[in-house]
Amino acid sequence: MRLLIVIFALLCVGSTAAAAGELVDGQKVFAKCKACHDVGPTAKNKVGPILNGVVGRPWGVVVGYKYSANKEGTLLAITEAEPMTWDVETLTNYLRKPKDVIPKGTMSFAGLKKDEDIENVILYLAQFDADGNEVDPEEILSALEESTSQEPAD
Ligand code: HEC
Repeated sequence: MRLLIVIFALLCVGSTAAAAGELVDGQKVFAKCKACHDVGPTAKNKVGPILNGVVGRPWGVVVGYKYSANKEGTLLAITEAEPMTWDVETLTNYLRKPKDVIPKGTMSFAGLKKDEDIENVILYLAQFDADGNEVDPEEILSALEESTSQEPAD
């Protein structure tokens, strides 16, 4: 029993250390987004909308930001037709190739090639809550996973 506890404790330490490394890598990837996007308590809309709390957030809801609209295949047109949420799957697809997900969207970004970069930048973004305060990204990701796994399959 005591051995099990020790092993469990070691596993926990191991996973936090890994997450910390991934967060640092995610921050580096975010350097590519920073020209257009802001995060943190004082974040402002730039060329792109504020990304605080974006993991688990519905598409296109930042107040005061003008999303692509009024045309088929734009961000607002897609989410008006069917309400969409930025979960790990949609973010992964969008960040890999923005035009595949939102063909007439205004995000002029070629996309991230490496799966690892995509995973790490999503983890990095998950640590900012809606007000831009830092929280445990794993909690946001696991809450999101639970809510999406409860949705009926279509
Ligand atoms: C050249 C500027 C630019 C760069 C670089 C850029 N974006 Fe964007 N991003 C935008 C614009 C503009 C939009 C609004 C898209 C629309 O309305 O169609 C957007 C939208 C988004 C959205 C949807 C937000 C919402 O509220 O629905 C996410 C998520 C996002 N970007 C993530 C990223 C990430 C992560 C990176 C870096 C890997 C990145 N973007 C790089 C300009 C950029």
